[in-house]
Amino acid sequence: MSDDVVLYEVSDGIAVVTINRPKALNALNSAVLAGLGAAFRRAGEEGVRGVVLTGAGPKAFVAGADIAEMKDLTSEQAEGFARSGQAVFDRIANFAGVVVAAVGGFALGGGMELAMACDLIIAAENARFGQPEVNLGVIPGFGGTQRLVRLVGVQRARELVFTARMVKAPEAVTLGIALEVVEAGTAVDRAKAILGGIATKGPLAIEYAKKAVNGHLDGTLADGLANEASLFGACFLTEDQTEGMTAFVEKRAASFRGA
Ligand code: CAA
Repeated sequence: MSDDVVLYEVSDGIAVVTINRPKALNALNSAVLAGLGAAFRRAGEEGVRGVVLTGAGPKAFVAGADIAEMKDLTSEQAEGFARSGQAVFDRIANFAGVVVAAVGGFALGGGMELAMACDLIIAAENARFGQPEVNLGVIPGFGGTQRLVRLVGVQRARELVFTARMVKAPEAVTLGIALEVVEAGTAVDRAKAILGGIATKGPLAIEYAKKAVNGHLDGTLADGLANEASLFGACFLTEDQTEGMTAFVEKRAASFRGA
């Protein structure tokens, strides 16, 4: 295998991007982040509509951001590192085509965050997901606190982030982290098969559908509350509101007209 820390190959219109630092369990250092950014830029330029993202070797998809590289960062440098990782993950999340993470072994910390930036996650039966950052005295920094909440809900996200518990593949499916579990060693093939099916659909429809689905991720709670208040006000333009509240006060059943 090549010495490059990120490998890129295309066949049948599907790119396979492989993080290639198996001796360090594919930990994300600056070189890997740069390589990932470059691979997705290239896939975009080549008009690739489907990408499988995976890790080299049998033990890990990605075991997190590179702890040795992070250890002595200043606060400012750490914030910069988090932002640069987030920017690469955003590029992946906003890639025009569909990106499937094929996860075998550990997907921890930045590795779980990377998988969650993809559109779909296929978990091999030996996959293990987790956000163990609190074990290191830090928090997830590549989007985990935001994307995990959206995948599994607030309470479960708190539990996973606060306890650093590792989740096995079947539970990952139950929680909505992964789409399905496949036999060890077959996740890339399954991801390719899914992308092959999607490739028969209208490419723009898929691109727009992805944008529309991702749109729900963008709103802040403040946006959601403002929208809710605005719609609450809009209710008071309807006859149904008048009827509903009048009926209550008059102690009778309401008769709504949908107007
Ligand atoms: N960064 C740097 N190196 C790592 C690494 C990481 N995240 N994870 C594993 N490695 C290295 C180990 O140091 C070891 O290197 P050497 O052989 O040179 O000693 C090699 O990979 C193999 O690892 P282990 O010997 O530890 O393998 P294991 O099977 O005993 O344990 C493991 C596997 C449970 C995944 C363990 O390696 C581990 O706990 N890794 C760290 C996981 C982690 O904490 N990830 C979160 C990082 S912080 C983060 O990601 C922040 C963020 O959100 C941005």
